[in-house]
Amino acid sequence: MSQDTKTLLDWASQYLFQNYARTPLCLVRGEGARVWDTDGREYLDFVGGIAVDALGHSHPKIVGAIREQATTLLHVSNLYQIPSQIHLARLLCEHSFADRAFFCNSGAEANEAAIKLARKFAKETRASDCVEIVTMHGAFHGRTMGALSATPTEKYQHGFEPLLPGFKYVPFGDLRATERAVDNRTAAILVEPIQGEGGVNVAPDDYLPGLRRLCDATGALLIFDEVQTGMGRTGRLWAHQHWGIEPDVMTLAKALASGIPIGAMLAKEFCARVMIAGSHGSTFGGNPFATTVGVATFTTMLEDKLPERADRVGAYLIERLRAAGGRVPGIKDVRGKGLLVGIDLDRPAGPVVDACRDRGLLVLTAGDAILRMTPPLVIDEADVDEAVEVVEQVLVRSQS
Ligand SMILES: Cc1ncc(COP(=O)(O)O)c(C=O)c1O
Repeated sequence: MSQDTKTLLDWASQYLFQNYARTPLCLVRGEGARVWDTDGREYLDFVGGIAVDALGHSHPKIVGAIREQATTLLHVSNLYQIPSQIHLARLLCEHSFADRAFFCNSGAEANEAAIKLARKFAKETRASDCVEIVTMHGAFHGRTMGALSATPTEKYQHGFEPLLPGFKYVPFGDLRATERAVDNRTAAILVEPIQGEGGVNVAPDDYLPGLRRLCDATGALLIFDEVQTGMGRTGRLWAHQHWGIEPDVMTLAKALASGIPIGAMLAKEFCARVMIAGSHGSTFGGNPFATTVGVATFTTMLEDKLPERADRVGAYLIERLRAAGGRVPGIKDVRGKGLLVGIDLDRPAGPVVDACRDRGLLVLTAGDAILRMTPPLVIDEADVDEAVEVVEQVLVRSQS
């Protein structure tokens, strides 16, 4: 399948849907936090597959699990019990607030499942018109019609109307506005503890505890979308642990199986029980392959104490970037937790991303002026020094 870069790029423009604004770069190999392109050029990867490659590329334990499962059993369907799915559910429940897990194939699907659970639970336990889901401006919950309806940003929704009815949008971080929006028709509040795509917006201190109190008072379910923030990314296993509260439902995907497609919905028993046999499902969801890799990912993450490492190295990254902000032009603010970091720039982030890539560093944007970093959690302080130096050089040059 190997071809020269130019031929591949020509074929990409001829044969692929043009729905992604892709960088003209073909990455073909990775190890740890380094990746290589078709021309053999090396990059320091501070994108990590957009918060997916938490264990770094080609981690021996993941490679081993994939090899072994590939020669054993890939797929059988949910007509049968799947041992690795049971093991992964048990691991996730024993290390979270949840009692039960459901598996699907992506973050959007996990949110679809959560929206369906919230509506069914509210209809069965409260009232037949209790169907509304309150979500936040700047949120990103995925591209399927339900998840898209929960994602109130024009650029994502435009052209795909009519959206699903029953969604109400309020400003992220505004507890009072949420209190005003929630009434006896509210089935759930769906929120990211830290908005990733929306610009690395960290929930203010009393916001999530306030939403918890609001849900307790009204009976609405509190759903945390931890598709991006979960699995150690923010320096805790789950981002909501920074605020000392628990949701009723949580959605996961991204880092859960190190890049093998998977999604999960975790929930407490009191609401999970409405999803009776036949109410929801997925052909591929939780198959032996994805969940075996999920078990290997989760156990390795715990053994290697990656959340703690993300906390330590992330604090160092934020400190180094803030210090850089005092020396070079362009940095207005540095925010985030652990290794989910956003640099608020005084200029468009796209050209900065391109210039970093030219100097061997992969980073991404989150909105127009936010430079985002979601590196593998295995990076060390020397990787941080290298990355910050590149960002500094780029900002100095893009000023002149
Ligand atoms: C917070 C959040 N929720 C949901 C999604 C959608 O996940 P997927 O692209 O796997 O459908 C994303 C993807 O970026 C996300 O960041």
